[in-house]
Amino acid sequence: TQHLPKPRARLPFGAVPVGRPDEIVVPPGYRASPFIPWGTPITGRYPAFADDASNSARDQAEQTGMHHDGMHFFPIDGHRGGGRRSDHGLLVLNHEYIDAPLLHPNGPSVTDGKRTSAEEVRKEINAHGVSVVEVRRDVRGEWEVVPSPRNRRITAATPMRISGPARGHALLKTRYSPKGTATRGTQNNCANGFTPWGTYLTCEENWAGYFATRDSNLPRELARYGLGSTSRFGWDTLPGDEFERFDATRKGPSAIADYRNEPNHFGWIVEIDPFDPESVPVKRTALGRFAHEGLIFAPVKPGRPLVCYSGDDAQNEYLYKYVSRDRYWPGFSDGRLLDKGTLYVARFKADGSGEWLALDIDNRKFRQACKVAGVRFADQGEVLINTRLAADVVGATKMDRPEWGAVHPDSGDVYFTLTNNTARTVADAANPRVANAYGHIIRWREQSRDHAGTRFRWDIFLLAGPQSDSLDPKGRPLGADSILASPDGLWFDPDGRLWVQTDMSGSQLSSGPFGNNQMLVADPRSGEVKRFLVGPLGAEVTGITATPDFRTLFVNIQHPGEGSTASNLLSTWPDGPGRRPRSATVIITREDGRRIL
Ligand code: FEO
Ligand code: CA
Ligand code: CA
Ligand code: CA
Repeated sequence: TQHLPKPRARLPFGAVPVGRPDEIVVPPGYRASPFIPWGTPITGRYPAFADDASNSARDQAEQTGMHHDGMHFFPIDGHRGGGRRSDHGLLVLNHEYIDAPLLHPNGPSVTDGKRTSAEEVRKEINAHGVSVVEVRRDVRGEWEVVPSPRNRRITAATPMRISGPARGHALLKTRYSPKGTATRGTQNNCANGFTPWGTYLTCEENWAGYFATRDSNLPRELARYGLGSTSRFGWDTLPGDEFERFDATRKGPSAIADYRNEPNHFGWIVEIDPFDPESVPVKRTALGRFAHEGLIFAPVKPGRPLVCYSGDDAQNEYLYKYVSRDRYWPGFSDGRLLDKGTLYVARFKADGSGEWLALDIDNRKFRQACKVAGVRFADQGEVLINTRLAADVVGATKMDRPEWGAVHPDSGDVYFTLTNNTARTVADAANPRVANAYGHIIRWREQSRDHAGTRFRWDIFLLAGPQSDSLDPKGRPLGADSILASPDGLWFDPDGRLWVQTDMSGSQLSSGPFGNNQMLVADPRSGEVKRFLVGPLGAEVTGITATPDFRTLFVNIQHPGEGSTASNLLSTWPDGPGRRPRSATVIITREDGRRIL
């Protein structure tokens, strides 16, 4: 239904077959080398990684974190953002979460459901967040870490600023910040984004699980985000402010006497200036509060508003778009463009049209919808803190777990993965399968190709699944070279080929027809889909970026050997027999040194 440039020659590589190797498999003619695995020393005293996981919490704060995820390569060229250098840059990457059984020599210490070691929990806090790593390609063509003052670890305890409409809101006032303008840390940083002015965006996804609350009647800004009575890692069960802040139970006379509002500081997009190691990261509240997967920018045009897209990765949640109030001007614009603008949520209609619905208290239709629904928001800050509720109110389309997005470099078409949704009971046109175990990729074209507009046309690009239950971009079943499930990571290369990464888990990963998690290439021009990479056992393939010359591709491998303990290693990638599995970046190059594709 959409107009695309004419098809090109077939994808020029041999498909990698599905399989369950404990290594990275790429097509003949390519090389894949692990790089900066968890525990790589990058700052401070550069503490060497200890194979037995005996590094201290302080060591961990000077090493790369665990569970590599979204990532971006920023060339170092003297001027930020617009660099073209391909042999020297800052590699910035998320560390989504941790596997405590592998992070500590013998797993976490727990007694009666409570953590007993502050040192262990501090190490866990320091294994989260973001790494900024200066990297350079040496004369032999090998990439190395540069010991550099730019290298930096941002953790789940790093001081940050809050900006945008919710800054200073009563619901953001905490013991740490009675004015509601500052916070500590970022966690569960899944996918990412990067701005035209050379900053990195890290996105807080499953942050709710880090908090516990024993209150029975949860306020809507907690209830709608799924907070429970116990937390994922039990950080809240240790005494002291640095841990108790993860316990949101109301205990004091006001919000600044306890931690009831602490969870409201999470679910945001955080802007980090990787070129200034002293910079304070900023939580940009205008972009909404939900389980942010990533943030994807439409191509910027001087004198036009900035437009970006973000998915809320949870079952039956929504797709969002942000349009800045002010115009973008190269060389003058900065993060303030992310503070004033309109957040929209998508409604997909059965006839292939769609509209963006404003979540803006100054918008008449939004206020009317709130009135009809009997929902009251005092101000725009409250709308943003309750983004999911605001989207419910306007009747947005509940999606099958929106993950990454990518914008085609020429057509401007926007592609988004909908990873799966086994909880779907009623199909709709945009989410056409009930109990959708395999996921799909949706795409849309903004009306008049104006990303700032409010109308679009959409179609389904690909239905993932086995041969018997899938559709490729031409409407044919996927084949042996292209079957996949649970698409997650998404990226367009400079030539408009779509790279798709999978995040299968459970029985789909261990015994499905798809083998290990993988990365495929789909060409929207020809409709061809072909598998390019198969990852090691138990790992997710996620995070992708390249040098401007497209001769180096960086991909992340997360949680190899998921479910391992020190005495039961389900993978030993990348270090080999007897060694703990480690999340790592993989550097992909061609043996002949030419462009990847
Ligand atoms: Fe962390 Fe939605 O994947
Ligand atoms: Ca993940
Ligand atoms: Ca993901
Ligand atoms: Ca996922």
